[in-house]
Amino acid sequence: MDENMVTAIPAERIPRHVAIILDGNGRYAKSKGLTRPQGHKAGADNVETISDACIELGIPYLTVYAFSTENWKRSEEEVSYLMGLMRWYLKNYMATALRKGIRMRVIGDRSKLDPEMVREIEKDERETAHLTNLNLTFAINYGSRDEITRAVRAIAEEVKEGKTLPSEIDEKLINAHLDTSVLPDPDLLIRTSGEERLSNFLLWQLAYSEFYFTEKYWPEFTPEDLKEAVLNYASRERRFGGRK
Ligand code: IPE
Ligand code: IPE
Ligand code: MG
Repeated sequence: MDENMVTAIPAERIPRHVAIILDGNGRYAKSKGLTRPQGHKAGADNVETISDACIELGIPYLTVYAFSTENWKRSEEEVSYLMGLMRWYLKNYMATALRKGIRMRVIGDRSKLDPEMVREIEKDERETAHLTNLNLTFAINYGSRDEITRAVRAIAEEVKEGKTLPSEIDEKLINAHLDTSVLPDPDLLIRTSGEERLSNFLLWQLAYSEFYFTEKYWPEFTPEDLKEAVLNYASRERRFGGRK
């Protein structure tokens, strides 16, 4: 990364929260004559590279879409490889996170994950809870519609139990019941590999985010590419429905 990386962009123009739909592991593998698992492995390694780049750029929140509620539709072989890779990653990345000051979190429905993996997630979250250099969140078995559905169900239970009045349901209360309740909304959403869709990622939270699409496959997305996305973001005028 070049030395001017941080100084080139005024601090107030650096996004506080970057969310990434890391797409294209399979096409990357194909283009290099590798297997799909090799593509996923390269993609997982790149999360570490881009996390480091976020710390250098002064981006405090990074959220990555690792496995969607729809990804179970893939072959059993691919799903089981991806689950194994994520488990391995959650276990082995902890030492790196502790060294680099990275707080790890996972969003998504844990009830369908292997109990061993859930224990690993809870351990990672607990043991990195004091760290502040970067808030790194993995979306695993995450789907925005599923998240909103779970939130609505939880609120309905509270209303039924008399803890909440229907008139008390507002955006803040809904937000508080989402998996992302402790995270600020993303400022910048990046999707790699040329697809321009959300694929059920953070539908509520991205209401006013800036979108950035790149043709690059995720394993080839470099810190320089991140900087380019951030530079592009820094040049935009966000209005939030108001007038300048
Ligand atoms: C993204 O890469 C990783 C996951 C969705 C798990 P893909 O596996 O979707 O790669 P392509 O889209 O087939 O190239
Ligand atoms: C989105 O990628 C999900 C993740 C990156 C985990 P997909 O490759 O699954 O999305 P579609 O199927 O192309 O929309
Ligand atoms: Mg894909």
